Amino acid sequence: MLIEIDHVAIAVADLDAAVAWYETMFGATVAHREHIESDGVEEALLKVADSYIQLLTPVTPESPVARYLERHGEGLHHIGYRVADVASALETLKAQGARVIDASPRPGSRGTTVAFVHPKASFGTLIELVQE
Ligand code: CO
Repeated sequence: MLIEIDHVAIAVADLDAAVAWYETMFGATVAHREHIESDGVEEALLKVADSYIQLLTPVTPESPVARYLERHGEGLHHIGYRVADVASALETLKAQGARVIDASPRPGSRGTTVAFVHPKASFGTLIELVQE
């Protein structure tokens, strides 16, 4: 079901500072930057081979990422796995008793379709299924 790692998401307080750090330290470049209104976040994607580091910062206090930063501070937020078909992957997971956050697929950034699986039932990792 999992094709490859689409992205590793890191929650940061200051997106510009985090981007500058990755640029300076690793010579990384921003492949995509987007304000995702529905999630209350702004993201910057840095390409690493065929995957991305996704730096995420909240743009509203109600954003789940804002709550995450309050509780945990900056750091690893979720892992996005590329799948061929999010809808069928989600149905397969639900049929096997997985606890999902999104009951059905929804739009993600850069035109992807995504669904999140709850970290409480997946060994503490927030998992995002990503269909390009
Ligand atoms: Co993500």
